[in-house]
Amino acid sequence: MDLQDSLLPGCLIRPATARDMGSIWKMVLGAKLDPTQLRPQQFWTIVCNGELVACGQLRHFDNAQELGSLVVRREWRGRGLGTILTQHLIQQATQPLYLECLGDRLARFYTRLGFEIVPWQELPRSLKLKFGISHIARKLFGVPVEILKYRGKS
Ligand SMILES: CC(C)(COP(=O)(O)OP(=O)(O)OC[C@H]1O[C@@H](n2cnc3c(N)ncnc32)[C@H](O)[C@@H]1OP(=O)(O)O)[C@@H](O)C(=O)NCCC(=O)NCCS
Repeated sequence: MDLQDSLLPGCLIRPATARDMGSIWKMVLGAKLDPTQLRPQQFWTIVCNGELVACGQLRHFDNAQELGSLVVRREWRGRGLGTILTQHLIQQATQPLYLECLGDRLARFYTRLGFEIVPWQELPRSLKLKFGISHIARKLFGVPVEILKYRGKS
């Protein structure tokens, strides 16, 4: 599937460059997402008419990757860009692919795209520590954090 063809006119998916990192930092911090591993070589972006409007990345771990830092600028949301960028990141992944998300609506967004909720106990060792914080927050304080794995890459 060529996802580029699904994009709005004037928009393209491209890898991030070092020059994009200022915008990416702002978007990730503005959305209160995990600020670790913000490395240009891991990021993909959607650029519309020259403006960076969406970003997302694949973090690397031993025998696993994490889809993270997915942000669409507020004024561009609800037009399918988050879906297309997620599908693109799935295509790019080369290892079993995981993510964490907060709340039912986001969990549904990802399950529609082929992810399923998995228990913390089933994570690879390299992710158990990182995702352990959410696991504890969920257990102790009822924070609605979900851990998901993409069904197609085992
Ligand atoms: C989640 C996000 C990337 C979706 O981008 P988008 O381009 O609006 O997504 P699409 O247009 O492809 O799809 C819309 C779907 O996104 C999800 N979504 C949109 N806004 C959302 C929000 N505020 N909270 C949770 N999910 C949301 C919903 O599933 C929605 O579908 P629905 O309206 O049928 O419920 C975007 O809302 C965003 O940047 N949110 C802030 C950062 C964030 O939470 N990132 C995810 C971290 S796990």
